[in-house]
Amino acid sequence: MCAKQVTKIGVLTSGGDAPGMNAAVRAVVRTGIYHGLEVFGIYRGYSGMIDDDIVQMNSRSVANIIQRGGTILKTARSKEFFELEGREKAYKNLAKRGINGLVIIGGDGSFRGAQKFSHEFDIPCIGIPGTIDKDIAGTDFTIGFDTAVNTAVEAIDKIRDTADAHDRLFIVEVMGRDAGYIALHSGIATGAENILIPEAKTNIEELVNSLTEKEKRQKLVNLIVVAEGDEFGANEIADVIRKRLPQTDTRVCILGHIQRGGSPTCLDRLIASRMGYHSVECLLEGRNNVMVGILNNKVHYTPLDKAVKAKQKITDDWFKIVKILAS
Ligand code: F6P
Repeated sequence: MCAKQVTKIGVLTSGGDAPGMNAAVRAVVRTGIYHGLEVFGIYRGYSGMIDDDIVQMNSRSVANIIQRGGTILKTARSKEFFELEGREKAYKNLAKRGINGLVIIGGDGSFRGAQKFSHEFDIPCIGIPGTIDKDIAGTDFTIGFDTAVNTAVEAIDKIRDTADAHDRLFIVEVMGRDAGYIALHSGIATGAENILIPEAKTNIEELVNSLTEKEKRQKLVNLIVVAEGDEFGANEIADVIRKRLPQTDTRVCILGHIQRGGSPTCLDRLIASRMGYHSVECLLEGRNNVMVGILNNKVHYTPLDKAVKAKQKITDDWFKIVKILAS
């Protein structure tokens, strides 16, 4: 807990953008104003803090944004903030406005920066998990994940149509950095035969055997969903299959940044609004260095160092579901 009462707070979005970040910004600004705080929007994440790109917000500054993807505050991955000199510059820009509390909406890299900054300059920092990757512990969902998965599902359903028409095997690569959640969720939801994720070792022999077996049973559509962080990329898998099963007409589709855009789903707007509201309450209660998450539909606070270090685990039953349902 932090003894000083916050009066002026800053909010920023940092790292990869995620649909729902705008809803979180809106919640922070409006909750802050409700409590009589001055609220400042910091543009382009930590870069804007260093470059003094900081603007006071009012309720109207966040009107008509809850349904928009991207982030009105823009975002960046700042290299300068890794250096003490950069962080000192950033602090001076906050201090001259009297900003004495921060809400950081971003992923694990952004939280690491926040932790350091908070220790060095005694500014309470509250994290809100905003990343499509869902690779943060202490929360069931991160802002943007649900939208990204739904985008992937919509795209894979379309791929299934053309795969079916041509009797082709499609290998679809989805994002997630070094986490496999987007692949796992979108793969199960689209009935993919195989889902390859970094959390489980990919066994090429098993994969080839399962395809051969399915071919014998004249399975009509074959979809493999691969997480970008898997040890084998989609193209590498396709090469193996073309060599081992030359009769299989194989295509690769890499979904890419389409998964980061678009209007946020209801779930993302909802969790963003709840997290944004609670982040300001946290600052007012004198909390510091915690992330606001939602676990079992209840707000849950996790120290930032635990949120960044511990990755969520994918339990065995998920893998069992994939295997049984793809039979
Ligand atoms: O962290 C979000 C994410 O979209 C990852 O899934 C992906 O690996 C990465 O960002 C892509 O980053 P960039 O937009 O810098 O290429």
